[in-house]
Amino acid sequence: MKKSIWNALILSLIPIFASACNKDEKPAADATGSYSASAPAEVAESSVDPAKKADVLLPQDPDARAWALVAQMSLDEKIQFIHTDHRKMSEIGSAAGHIPGLPRLKIPELLMIDSSAGSRSKIFKSTTFPATLAIAASWDRDLAYLFAAEVAKQARAQGYGMGLGGGANLVRDPRVGRMFEYLGEDPLLAGKMLASRTEGTQSQHVIATIKHMVGNEQEAHRMEGSSVIDERTLRQIYMLPFEIAVQESQPGNVMCSYNQLSLDGYAPGIWACEHPHILTDILKREWGFKGQVQSDWGATHSTAAAINAGLDEDEHYRAAEYFVPAKVKAALEAGEITIERLNEMVHRKLRTMISIGVMDNPPPNNQAEGFVPDINFAAAEAMAQKAAEQSIVLLKNQPQQAPLDVKTPRKLLPLDASKLKKIAVAGAHADKAILVGSGSGSVTNTTYGSFPLYDGKCRNIDFPQKFNPCFTSNPWKRVKVPMLEAIRNAAPSAEVVYGGNSDEAEPFRPYTEQEIDDAVKQAQQADVAIVVVAQPAGEMADLGTLGLNNARTAEGKQGNQDELVRRIAAVNRNTIVVVESGNPILMPWINDVSAVLEVWYPGDNGGPAIANVLFGKVNPSGKLPVTFPKADADTPTAGKEWEKNPVYAERLNVGYRWYDSKGVEPLFEFGFGLSYTEFHYSDLRVTTDGDGSKTATFTLENTGTLAGRETPQIYAQFPASSGEPPKRLVGWDKVELQPGEKKTVSVKIAPKLQSIWDVANAKWKLVPPAKILVGASSRQIKLEL
Ligand code: BGC
Repeated sequence: MKKSIWNALILSLIPIFASACNKDEKPAADATGSYSASAPAEVAESSVDPAKKADVLLPQDPDARAWALVAQMSLDEKIQFIHTDHRKMSEIGSAAGHIPGLPRLKIPELLMIDSSAGSRSKIFKSTTFPATLAIAASWDRDLAYLFAAEVAKQARAQGYGMGLGGGANLVRDPRVGRMFEYLGEDPLLAGKMLASRTEGTQSQHVIATIKHMVGNEQEAHRMEGSSVIDERTLRQIYMLPFEIAVQESQPGNVMCSYNQLSLDGYAPGIWACEHPHILTDILKREWGFKGQVQSDWGATHSTAAAINAGLDEDEHYRAAEYFVPAKVKAALEAGEITIERLNEMVHRKLRTMISIGVMDNPPPNNQAEGFVPDINFAAAEAMAQKAAEQSIVLLKNQPQQAPLDVKTPRKLLPLDASKLKKIAVAGAHADKAILVGSGSGSVTNTTYGSFPLYDGKCRNIDFPQKFNPCFTSNPWKRVKVPMLEAIRNAAPSAEVVYGGNSDEAEPFRPYTEQEIDDAVKQAQQADVAIVVVAQPAGEMADLGTLGLNNARTAEGKQGNQDELVRRIAAVNRNTIVVVESGNPILMPWINDVSAVLEVWYPGDNGGPAIANVLFGKVNPSGKLPVTFPKADADTPTAGKEWEKNPVYAERLNVGYRWYDSKGVEPLFEFGFGLSYTEFHYSDLRVTTDGDGSKTATFTLENTGTLAGRETPQIYAQFPASSGEPPKRLVGWDKVELQPGEKKTVSVKIAPKLQSIWDVANAKWKLVPPAKILVGASSRQIKLEL
């Protein structure tokens, strides 16, 4: 075919197949439109000479533009767009994955980077933001957007066009090592926050990833085990965050998980990355997902089976690559896959690059001589601090005790700096560093550096599964203003002393008796004692217990952070515990201390953020995105954690649903968090619209003396016949109120949130709730109707 005729044909066909995409050929309809997996025959033909078609005038519509590009590619060029060359990983701009560009078609290369709490570039410095779990604790969708945008801004400035943050596996077992990268235990909270995060990332022209789909709720055996999940639980719990994000924010990329799945009606043990029900039936057909599906790194196990199931891109970190030219060509020749499907895979990639803006406006080339990313670190740190402040959860705040002024019936927090002569701070390297989660969700090359590694490891830490949470870098990150200094800045007239283990070479080792004795002596003489405890966790590092003794020396000596708290609390009745963790922790000393702050992994500006909350510059407003149980034995998976083939036997009873249905009282429930002010709830009304959606309207008043933010939560109680757990989160708002101010709050509850998955008919079925509850947490119900 001659070039001019071909050009004319392509151009004349585009409107035809673009409109076909919008009408008859759509696999599924949703509010966001549809994806056409079909291209005209001309596109399927790959014998055309690619060199002759570089000057085709391309239309603007991403679908049509991508099809026109696919039509100009040779078979080898197409295959280039469906896999990363693992041998070049990290060599090219320190990317986690790399897809080469195609200059003759003006397609830029694409570099991917992990971006959970900041860019994980090894060669460029990045800000460490608070952990994703912390963002969930803010329950603030605008914050999730801004956080993601700031992370993406840095990644893009460093040359990366795709961010791999966006974890949304739910907390089934609260000991899961990667909980810090996820968004808590409730699918609605996780889904809405993930949608906002996706929008924030893509606002910076960085392709967002949502991951790991699906059934990857533990690190142990993640690469070989098969998660056994019933269909209703799958749809109502584990798939829902992904469904919400796909439908509300159109992420460019879905990463399928390492594990296998044993689902009702399917053979047991099908890899998640080659599961046709998940990838094609649900994600692409039912939800109308228009982006690409990418494997987790090394999660592809076949060529034809994975391609036919709906996997579009194979990411590898070792030599076993399945979507390489030899294997894809062989599968084509054997008729195991079709050229139409290959075209669709490439189309999904190009369409994503076009629609998110990395095609026409790619990130800078980070391999260029003398390249320096243009990053405003001060602005990023301001954002990181705001995010940390909004996510800190105040768990306990008792009245202050002697030697402070006990006559005024005042709570211990916020501290009044003018009344404090001596403050004793102890533990968790509060004099130098903050802890981060480890693995691909960490920031490796942090702005201020890390504690050192020894032989690629941290000494004196040994997790039950023999994983080392230091496998990428030491998770103790130096910061510009450590907590100790921030406290000194907030209380300039007080003497602020520090005790504990400030040894960088042995950052996880248990405290010596001498260190504990010294810290106790300091606390005894202080008005207030602040004890900082920390729980490391990470990728491939599930915890053995929620207790603080996971870290243990090679000789088997367990960590003794609980002892430090107990001994200090015994001598100072104004003891405040600050918890840095990515998981709930057990608090055997809870009755002995006056105040507790959960600060998560707080990021680079954690120190100033914590000081601002301690001294009342910021009124805490975080609420728990995960239940804190009283004991390991109370959790839904107690006694059978880390099974090779985890059976999701608790079904819908995940997180607070478990504690509610079993009548187990947690230490702190889902949705719990105190403020320095008080809120009053009144006048609940519930209306129902024609489509079944309900609106809960009520009045919220700040009856205290300080401005503050409250997160009223709406729960639905379903009729017993529905088989639902006692309550389900169906909405929330985050409301700012001045002292004495009242606001009318309205929260809409979409029909899907009042539905159950009807297994027999494979669809959502509306089951109008018996009651709507409005609470300050999942257990502090203030109003009901
Ligand atoms: C993790 C992914 C990550 C990828 C690339 C995998 O081990 O499970 O979450 O994005 O590595 O670093």
